Amino acid sequence: MEKVFESERINFVRMTEELLHDYLEMVNDLERVARFIRRNAERYTIAEEREYIQSIVEDKPPFFSMIERKSGDFIGNIELRNIKDSAAELGIAITAKKQDLGYGTESVSRIISYGFDTLGLNKVTLRVHQDNPRAICVYQKCGFTVSSRTEDDIMMEIVKRPQLLRTENAAISAAELVLPRQAAL
Ligand SMILES: CC(C)(COP(=O)(O)OP(=O)(O)OC[C@H]1O[C@@H](n2cnc3c(N)ncnc32)[C@H](O)[C@@H]1OP(=O)(O)O)[C@@H](O)C(=O)NCCC(=O)NCCS
Repeated sequence: MEKVFESERINFVRMTEELLHDYLEMVNDLERVARFIRRNAERYTIAEEREYIQSIVEDKPPFFSMIERKSGDFIGNIELRNIKDSAAELGIAITAKKQDLGYGTESVSRIISYGFDTLGLNKVTLRVHQDNPRAICVYQKCGFTVSSRTEDDIMMEIVKRPQLLRTENAAISAAELVLPRQAAL
């Protein structure tokens, strides 16, 4: 598997046919995964899933599978899609047995820094069902704020911290360096 980057407990690898059965199990878990990520409740066949993976593998978009570093187990998939004007949309699905272990928070936070620092994005947006409080909790913990709402969904976004803040921090650090010397005089 081709690792692209990592976080404390997760390797982010390119999608691969090796994980076909894990993907299929996850996307066909209607109660614990699928109802949160798509409107239709149909199950995908192995042929459909293979075709989808092949299209992803060829294009090499920022679409990653997450592998638990300590065990090698499949955790889920995370992607930055529809990249346009330095903005992208976040998508994530974690397989049922790896949910509620902090992987959502860890991976969303990591892919945001990958998007901002490596891909040069300035903004990441997402759409989440109103009835998905766990996902909303994760996105808020990672710094997303609500930008708008529809009857069913909440739109959220996170914007890259402007350069000005770094300048302010640099100014504060410089002041902190100077002050002790002044105090010693
Ligand atoms: C949503 C998802 C990405 C979250 O990832 P995760 O690894 O399960 O979540 P984490 O363990 O990182 O964090 C869950 C947080 O939600 C909180 N939470 C769980 N259920 C909650 C609820 N009903 N209401 C409010 N908060 C809730 C937890 O307390 C935890 O916060 P804490 O760490 O501060 O205690 C993952 O569960 C998933 O893929 N679910 C199925 C598909 C999906 O919903 N995708 C997102 C579509 S927008």
